[in-house]
This record gives sequence, C-alpha cells and structure tokens, in this order.
Amino acid sequence: MPAKIDVRSTAQGSPDLVRFAFKGAELPAGVRKGEFAGAPSSLVLLRGKEARTVIVGLGDKEKLEPDTVRKAAGAAIKHLLKIGATEIALELGAVAEHAGAAVEGAILASYKFVGFGKDPSKQTHSILQRLQLIVRENEVTVARAQAREAEIVANLANLVRDLGNLPGNLFTPAILADKARELVRGRKLSLKVWDEKMLKRDRFGGILAVGGGSANPPRLLVMEYRGGPKTQPPIALVGKAVTFDTGGISLKPGAAMDEMKWDKMGGLAVLGMMGAIADLKLPLNVVGLIPSAENMPGPDAYRPGDIVTTRDGKTIEILNTDAEGRVILVDAIAYARETYKPSAIFEYSTLTGAVVMALGHKRAGLFTSEEKWRDAFMAAGRRTGETVWPLPIDGEYRENVLSEIATAKNTSFREGSACSSASFVKLWAEEIPFVHLDIAGTAWTTKPPAHLEGGATAFGLRLTLDVLKSVTG
Ligand code: BES
Ligand code: MN
Ligand code: ZN
Repeated sequence: MPAKIDVRSTAQGSPDLVRFAFKGAELPAGVRKGEFAGAPSSLVLLRGKEARTVIVGLGDKEKLEPDTVRKAAGAAIKHLLKIGATEIALELGAVAEHAGAAVEGAILASYKFVGFGKDPSKQTHSILQRLQLIVRENEVTVARAQAREAEIVANLANLVRDLGNLPGNLFTPAILADKARELVRGRKLSLKVWDEKMLKRDRFGGILAVGGGSANPPRLLVMEYRGGPKTQPPIALVGKAVTFDTGGISLKPGAAMDEMKWDKMGGLAVLGMMGAIADLKLPLNVVGLIPSAENMPGPDAYRPGDIVTTRDGKTIEILNTDAEGRVILVDAIAYARETYKPSAIFEYSTLTGAVVMALGHKRAGLFTSEEKWRDAFMAAGRRTGETVWPLPIDGEYRENVLSEIATAKNTSFREGSACSSASFVKLWAEEIPFVHLDIAGTAWTTKPPAHLEGGATAFGLRLTLDVLKSVTG
C-alpha cells in the first residue's frame, strides 16, 4: 500500500520530523558545532521524547535545484525508515515551492524490494504509512496540487521498480503482458498484445528471431492514449523489454549475468510512463510500444550469420546474437512509423555496455539530431535528477553498421559502439524525429545512493513526464 499523503499547515499526531537547512544557516537547536554543516543530503538525528527529528542539509542556497530537495528528502526518509519510522512529517519551510520534488523523494526513498526470504525480521526497512507535508497556510493549495502529481508519478516509478526487480523465471514476456492488462484497467488507455502466432502473421521477424531460443515466447505490447486533438499525430514511446539476456548463442560470460534480469527496464519505463500520462490526463496523443523477448540459446535460437527480415521488409545481418535489443526495437519502430506516423519517436533501452564505459552510472546517453528534443531532455534531466548527456548519432557511426548483404548488420567495431548501435536503431525510424536513450548504466543500481535502495531505478519515467509536461505547457 502506498503511503497516505496530506499537506497541512500544522502536523497532526506525533510523526517523526524532517527539517531542511541550508549551508551556513544558524545551527538548529540541539545540534552541536562540527556535527552538521548543511552539505547536501547530510543528516543529523535528534531524539525528542516522542518523535525524532532529522535535520537534512541542502547545500548553498543560491545553488538550490528541485533535485537537491528531492535527494535530501529521500536521504532523510530512508534514514528514518531504517530506524523504524512509519509516520513522517516534512517541514518544508523555505523550500515549500519544491513540495512536488520532496514528495517524489520521499516516495522513491520508501520503496524497497521485499524479496523472497522467509524471515520477515530481515526486512531492514519499515513501511511508510503516512507522510505529512507541512507548509504555511497560504502555500497549502499550491503544494497540494504539486504533491498530487508527484504522488502519481512516484508511485508508478515504484511499480516499475518492483516489476523490474523480479527475476527472469518470474517475469516473462507473457507475464509482462498480464501486468500491462492490469495497468490499463480503470485507466483511459487501450492495450493490444501480439502473441507469437500474431507476430508471425504480421511478420515481426526481429522479435520472433530474438524470442526463438526461449520456451517463454515473445510478445509485442501497444498501448494508446488519446488526450490531444483527434488529428494530432502521437508521440511514440518505445522500450526494450528483454526479460532476460543470456546473449543467446553468442553467450555472455557468467560474471554478473544475473543483472541481465534488468534488461527489461526500458520497456517497463514506457509502461509506467503510459500509466502516468493517463493519470495526469496530459493533453497529448501518445502511443507506447514494448517489444518483449527472452534472449536464450535453444534449438530454435537465431544464430550469427542469420538474415532477419523486419516488419517493414528491411533486413538485418546478425553478427552477434547478444546485440538483440536493437533487433526487437526496430520491429516496433517500423510498426509505429507505418501505423501512427508519429511526430517523434522516443526510445529507451539498456542497449550497450559501451555507454556505461562512456558515461558511468549517473547519466544516460542521449542520442538525437533534433535540437529541440535535445534541449528539452537536457533541461528535464537537470530538474528531475534523471540526467542525460548528448552523444553523436548518424554520420560515420551509421556507415559502420551498413551491411554488404542486408540493410544493416547488428554489430560493428567495439570503438564507438554506443553511437553505432544508436545509429542502427535510427535507420528504422527513417524521417521521423528520433530520440534514443541508452539507459544501460542508469536503469538499476548496485551501489545505491543515500536517497534510494538498490535495484531497478525506473530511469526515464520521471524524465519523460517532465519533458512531456514542458512541451504541453
Ligand atoms: N543488454 C545488453 C547491454 C548491457 C550490458 C546493458 C551491460 C547493461 C549492462 C545488450 O543486449 C548487449 O548485450 N550488448 C552488447 C552488444 C555487443 C554484443 C555488440 C554489449 O554492449 O556488449
Ligand atoms: Mn545482449
Ligand atoms: Zn540486452
């Protein structure tokens, strides 16, 4: 059960408290010199008779960003939950204008994957039952509206994280389709699911090739949301959902292969985005496409050397079956282009190890030739803390993936391969404005920061909602 949230001008009951403090501010009562300097997300705990108070730092007042508040609120809440708090009040004080960020930080920090252990006492994290936001009387209305939107987005992010953290044996393409059916129930969203027979009938050769090696057959999910003018072309959101990536016949080495259960995070982020877009009633038309397969070696697995024909008749020379994400993505992109003529395609995938080498775990790779969208994603990244950094697409990178015997080959040189992989996918978008986010380094964390637990992050969901809100005003 997600926490109950209310916005008030005085705290009710005796919740544990969180107070925010800038660097250089007067030391709060009860805090000794040297104990706390106000650095971002630094904490000090004060024990009162009934409640406890966490003072959390915000750094320099002049440098304050919404994400500073989000992370500080998260760090404070995570700490309180670790010591058993269940009811918490955030005294927003001077940062009441960032009520939305504070709520997001709190909800995101309160998620922890329960897991499958038998011993509930091993659960190191209490469950947040009630969150109060304390603001001045005249700030209540604005803060309430912000809190409501933040609650929608953050709870969907936690749903995405929870599904994402399920292992490959408990989360197959068919199970993903079931979860999508649950998500659209009660929302203004339509859903169509292609099973393996329909995929064959409709010539989705890429999705079928990658899914061929697994006993868990592939799926394609298409979700439609109509919130804009009837004749307005939609934005298409496409996400890679490989429920487990062994590499297939080009088998991966064993080390850390378990992490490939998170190779579905692009698709799950899109699922969450569609839920949030519908709940927020954005005045836009949006279509979400999620190709899903399990990449396994098996009697019917695709193999290096194979020529695969995608939905639109283009062909792929398979050189490495571990470069499978692009093979399923382009089928979905071709379908989106033919069926919807979208005004833009945003595509999310844990596509390459190379982007992790380039950018590490804090920023996702942003690949687009569209200045408008590059600027929008960069700005949204700063606001949401889901930061991105531009990398090149097309040009020489595109040359690298052209094939002598097919439209394109699915791998080329190791050098620059985050860029050539992006360029490969873009070939199927043709003339449609295209944005690719390589979230391989950011989709999950095994070294969680102070404001989050480890595991799936739902990276891309809050970012994209912010982008879509920024273009709809
Ligand atoms: N899902 C992986 C990419 C990945 C690797 C994501 C590590 C996160 C962490 C993708 O399907 C893959 O295997 N890519 C290969 C491509 C290579 C065979 C050309 C890669 O990046 O090594
Ligand atoms: Mn792979
Ligand atoms: Zn993969």
